[in-house]
Amino acid sequence: MSQLQGIRACIFDAYGTIFDFASAAAHCTDIPDDKRAALTNLWRDKQLQYTWLRSLQGRYADFWQVTGEALDFTLDSLGIATPALRDRLMDLYLTLSAFPEVPGTLRRLREAGFVTAILSNGSPAMLGAAVRGAGLQDLLDAVLSADAVQVFKTHPRVYEYGLKQLGMRAGQVSFQSSNAWDAFAASAYGMRVVWCNRYGQPRERLPGAPDREVRSLAELPALLEITIRP
Ligand code: LAC
Repeated sequence: MSQLQGIRACIFDAYGTIFDFASAAAHCTDIPDDKRAALTNLWRDKQLQYTWLRSLQGRYADFWQVTGEALDFTLDSLGIATPALRDRLMDLYLTLSAFPEVPGTLRRLREAGFVTAILSNGSPAMLGAAVRGAGLQDLLDAVLSADAVQVFKTHPRVYEYGLKQLGMRAGQVSFQSSNAWDAFAASAYGMRVVWCNRYGQPRERLPGAPDREVRSLAELPALLEITIRP
């Protein structure tokens, strides 16, 4: 694939892109094995639905509250709701595993002179805990939360906030997300976009069109116009 020209900063979505949200349930021994996948999938789907519905209604609540309320719905749906399990899973959500290629990729991008940042729905406290928990704090120039603009992605105000905080124009930024709806929205906003399609999902029928599609962030450095020191 041909390289993206003129990129100065790489901005990353957090959950699903840098951090593996499935690792919360995977590290929780108190869940019946036959409900683990259903819990992860419904929790994530409901968490995202609540961000979109709250944004549409103009009734913002931070991502920690939304994540907890989505978990409450999920545990009720699966018939396994207990205060102890809820608390355990929410704690685990603060220290999600980073995908294996993330530290090396961020290190290579910084060594090549790129600004690296997270732009996420996550609350500042959630993102701070996850970044520290994964040992990424020295590999990111900025960790930016949609909480600053009191609305969730895919509202343009979130992407605008990311550019303003970095002092960059849209064409100078490569935005990476594993969430297709987020990747397409960032493209529609005007950023260059590399969609990290980890699970081989079909393209969305939404405004925008990612510039490149990869299966792992490890493929990102080769897509950017850089000479990476050996
Ligand atoms: C985020 C979620 C949407 O990090 O993945 O913003």
